[in-house]
Amino acid sequence: MLRAPRGTKDILPPESHKWAYLESLLRRLSKLYNFEEIRTPIFEYTELFSRTVGESTDIVRKEMYTFQDKGGRDLTLRPEGTAPVARAFLERGLAQGALPKKLFYLGPMFRYEKPQAGRYREFVQYGVEILGSPSAYSDVEVILLAVRIAEELGLTGTVLYINTIGCPKCRQAHREDFVKHISSRAKQLCKDCLERLETNPMRILDCKNPACREAVADVPLVKDYLCDDCQEHWDTLQQLLESLGLEYTVDPTLVRGLDYYTKTVFELKWPPLGAQDAIIGGGRYDGLIEELGGKPCPGVGFAVGVERLLLAAEKGQKPLNPDVSIDCFVVFPGGGDRRLAQAGFKLVNDLRGSGLSSDFDPLGRSMKAQMKHADRLNARYVAILGEAEFEQGLVTIRSMEHGWQKQVPAGQVLDFMKEEVSGGSK
Ligand code: HAM
Repeated sequence: MLRAPRGTKDILPPESHKWAYLESLLRRLSKLYNFEEIRTPIFEYTELFSRTVGESTDIVRKEMYTFQDKGGRDLTLRPEGTAPVARAFLERGLAQGALPKKLFYLGPMFRYEKPQAGRYREFVQYGVEILGSPSAYSDVEVILLAVRIAEELGLTGTVLYINTIGCPKCRQAHREDFVKHISSRAKQLCKDCLERLETNPMRILDCKNPACREAVADVPLVKDYLCDDCQEHWDTLQQLLESLGLEYTVDPTLVRGLDYYTKTVFELKWPPLGAQDAIIGGGRYDGLIEELGGKPCPGVGFAVGVERLLLAAEKGQKPLNPDVSIDCFVVFPGGGDRRLAQAGFKLVNDLRGSGLSSDFDPLGRSMKAQMKHADRLNARYVAILGEAEFEQGLVTIRSMEHGWQKQVPAGQVLDFMKEEVSGGSK
């Protein structure tokens, strides 16, 4: 039997109802914070990611699904959404329009990672980006949206970690001291970190290896080397969070796994998720648009894995409870009098025409089996059109929720059902 590739999964009902529910919640919140949707291609030129996410990052070195198409172009299934949004912003001239531009996306991303709970090779991200605002208010705006998502899902006890990694100017000042310090402990470093020491030393802070973590324990931190502009941004950000009463923890080792970040980086963690507890990650990327060949244009945003949100919601205090019911199931005998079956089928169609979700049994099973099927489909009402009803021009309506049963003249069934479904008598 052929199976789905490792790290991917099929989303079947009833789980798909939860996905739809969560996606509509994310769309509602996007509207509330005035983010508009952008959809970018699933694959991009590989260079887009190597130049922005960074050659020395795990994503680019180990995790990208890269291939050549028949024309010999180097393409990559997008591992994240920020670089594609920045590319589209630039290519499509959005920088010339009203700024800031606030965009959101919701779609699949691909990373060749070791699959485990909350970590997949194909996963869905919801992300937001504010392009064209250097203001710390924008950093806080996206942080507030991130926190709001967790709140709406009833996740209590989330922890907001923030840090500043400065700009290239601050990092240059910091780099020499940092490298000097780490070089004195080079023996402790893993193979990857030895390479990082040459290419992108700050990335060593991101290594999970216990010996490497020990090597960076008392390393000089960028936050002590900030230029005036980055210092002011960092101070404003913290003052704003405090003015809102939003609790946060400064984690000076938080650098995140992507190279485009400048100034603010943040993560929202929910500890009950265990190893993959970082549900939301984001930060500022003031050099990204320039890196792609545009005029300098600041940006800030975050992304969240929808699978991780669903896992968290299931473990949280407010498990997702989407409505999986249908309004009406029409029971009628499939065999025998063809006029009766046709009348039953017409009733299904008329109910649907009136805006009531409805279904029927196309397999001609017994009335009892059909009732059972109606129950399985979570029908709120069943309309029974048996031979006796048909002859008398009636339809029997049964409320599955309240257990009552009424006979209604066939000509009045639609109005009766519309009234019932919107009001719901007992
Ligand atoms: P990221 O931290 O790489 O950031 O990913 C953001 C979120 O995507 C993670 O917190 C996690 O919920 C989810 N995620 C990442 N990898 C996987 C995976 N293999 N399986 C399941 N979920 C995963 C970014 O992608 C940045 N583009 C975020 C950003 C937007 N920064 C600024 N704007």
